[in-house]
Amino acid sequence: MPSYDEKYSFLERRVDALKTNRTGDERQTDGEVFDKKTLMTIYDMMTSGFIDSIRYPISTGKEGNVFYALDEEEEPYALKIFRTSTSTFKRVTKYIEGDPRFKGVYGNRWKMIYAWVNKEFRNLQRYLEAGIPVPEPITFDKNCLLMEYIGDENGPAPQLKDVHLDDPTGMYDEVVSFIIDGWKDAHLVHGDLSEYNVLIKDGEPILIDCGQAMTNDYFNAKDLLERDIKNVNRFFKNRGAETIDMETIMEETINGKDDEEADEE
Ligand SMILES: Nc1ncnc2c1ncn2[C@@H]1O[C@H](COP(=O)(O)OP(=O)(O)OP(=O)(O)O)[C@@H](O)[C@H]1O
Ligand SMILES: [Mg+2]
Repeated sequence: MPSYDEKYSFLERRVDALKTNRTGDERQTDGEVFDKKTLMTIYDMMTSGFIDSIRYPISTGKEGNVFYALDEEEEPYALKIFRTSTSTFKRVTKYIEGDPRFKGVYGNRWKMIYAWVNKEFRNLQRYLEAGIPVPEPITFDKNCLLMEYIGDENGPAPQLKDVHLDDPTGMYDEVVSFIIDGWKDAHLVHGDLSEYNVLIKDGEPILIDCGQAMTNDYFNAKDLLERDIKNVNRFFKNRGAETIDMETIMEETINGKDDEEADEE
């Protein structure tokens, strides 16, 4: 069993952030995303063969960072690493406690954040199974989630907010279909749907950031649904799309005809 120092020097060769910011204290790197536990989780993902190196951060946020990672064949992945801070814990708690899939998980900060990562992984699986385009989830462990990289050799796919839309109404209809099909087929409501959490690759929208998505039987699911529709309508109205009023979309989502009803889980 390699010692911590041995593991750390193994990681130093494969994690760019550790190469550039070295001061001997692993905690200072990248705003504490790479604390000791996280480093050991990355080590495990590497020795299990999921990834071989971690390159640059695609995104740095308050609650975590998303990194560009490569496996041995130089296949790219997105590695989302959550900060195990109290602020992350505070935000995620209600979404874990309110989700029947996580009954009995409460209290402990670590446990809660690990459950959050597990939840984002499962939500991505559910969306994918329902045919909604999301990054394919590959694996997760503790506060780390490995998924399909959305982008190409020039870089990660841009967020919807940064893209010029030739056909705003066409794009709007697709994003609205994520809301409706997400509810009907994946039985989920995203809960943070906006121009920030849709990436555009080859002109097609892909839904991301699914940790907070709740099952549609959650007591607050309709409020989340309403919020998602409002956000999407506001953004697309500004872009000149022909939008549908919220009540009509709500009605279609909750009571609309459903071909999938026969093959419920
Ligand atoms: N699978 C992916 N492939 C490429 N880029 C991604 C992927 N997932 C996320 N990103 C990029 O990282 C950003 C942050 O990811 P995400 O929205 O999932 O996290 P977040 O919790 O909202 O973080 P933040 O608080 O920084 O917004 C995205 O806006 C996107 O630009
Ligand atoms: Mg986001």
